[in-house]
Amino acid sequence: MSLTINSALNSILLATLILSLIFPSSILGLSSPLYTPKTGEMIGKTVLITGGTSGLGLETIKRLGGSGCRIIFTARSKEKGDNVLSTLPPSTSASYVVMDLASFKSVREASAEITSLLETPEEQEPSSISVLLNNAGVMALPDRRLTSDGNEFQFQTNHLGHFLFTLSLINSRCLDLSSGRVINVASSAYQFARNGLNFDDLNASRSYSAWDAYGKSKLSNLLFTLALDKRFKDKGWGIRATSLHPGVVRTDLGRYLFSSGGGEERGPSSDSGLLGKLGLKVVSLFTKSVEEGADTQIWLSAGNGGDVGGKFYVDKRARVLGENAIDVEAGEKLWRESERLTEVKWEEEGGN
Ligand SMILES: NC(=O)c1ccc[n+]([C@@H]2O[C@H](COP(=O)([O-])OP(=O)(O)OC[C@H]3O[C@@H](n4cnc5c(N)ncnc54)[C@H](OP(=O)(O)O)[C@@H]3O)[C@@H](O)[C@H]2O)c1
Repeated sequence: MSLTINSALNSILLATLILSLIFPSSILGLSSPLYTPKTGEMIGKTVLITGGTSGLGLETIKRLGGSGCRIIFTARSKEKGDNVLSTLPPSTSASYVVMDLASFKSVREASAEITSLLETPEEQEPSSISVLLNNAGVMALPDRRLTSDGNEFQFQTNHLGHFLFTLSLINSRCLDLSSGRVINVASSAYQFARNGLNFDDLNASRSYSAWDAYGKSKLSNLLFTLALDKRFKDKGWGIRATSLHPGVVRTDLGRYLFSSGGGEERGPSSDSGLLGKLGLKVVSLFTKSVEEGADTQIWLSAGNGGDVGGKFYVDKRARVLGENAIDVEAGEKLWRESERLTEVKWEEEGGN
């Protein structure tokens, strides 16, 4: 047990230090003042957030809530969704749909439910989604696990599930194609996949490492963003796709690192002893609070940044991506593979 905790802490410390060095603004709270949209500023908009039940997603719901927008978020269970609703002020217009990105069936059901929600708007509710914030994710599962669809867990949860969700919502015309935004929460951890994606083995059946798989799933988020934004522009639609890195943030994202084996989750704070507490204290010096970490995605969701299409944001500023994340050929290959694996197709005949 202590061996597991030690190696988990080592992994976290290592990842924290590397990520903080890549993006030094994460260190010792050097980030800019927090952004929250003004009261009433987003009346008439609908924001759809995946993974609204903890961390950055939950913080985004709370801070957008006062702006007057309608929020739809996804939760992995009814219990978790209800729990979030019970904590929000009554003035927040929020509802949720249950969705598990690790199940294509669940993703299809959730997008169908959202389609019918939008088809029967209550009085004065907007009938399309202005912002799709693809935020949900898992990180660094110690052992290779497969989803019920047979894909490596991080690849499906972080990329394939969102690919299917996004295309389903576009094909059913739920997204505002004239002026909406698709915002993909990626990570600077894409740099762990320095050599790009392995198209002969996207599901890591030949070799698996927790961080490599996470890095590749986040690289997929970035390649997807560019390929999607290009398609929006080719269609002549005003909707744009953009991406971001939130910083290294003290959320529960590391829960799998502390699992006792078998890839099950466990809260980082539970039973990690003095060493664990000390380790987390050190980590906190190099990381952001959840409030700070959610800033860029809240800022983008509120429509800031001008022409954000295809750009990658850190601390509310567009940044240059590495070669592996702007590889158009790799992006197209990933797109084709994602269509094959999820059995969804980009609609060739679209139009507003
Ligand atoms: N924290 C960081 O330092 C950091 C750095 C870079 C990028 N990011 C990215 O930020 C995003 C949000 O992460 P976070 O830090 O806020 O982590 P978090 O607190 O663990 O929140 C993750 C959210 O995703 C949901 N989720 C997990 N697996 C899912 C699945 N199979 N289907 C649907 N929803 C699922 C979780 O639902 P449950 O509540 O049911 O678990 C939760 O709502 C992720 O994409 C992550 O890669 C985070």
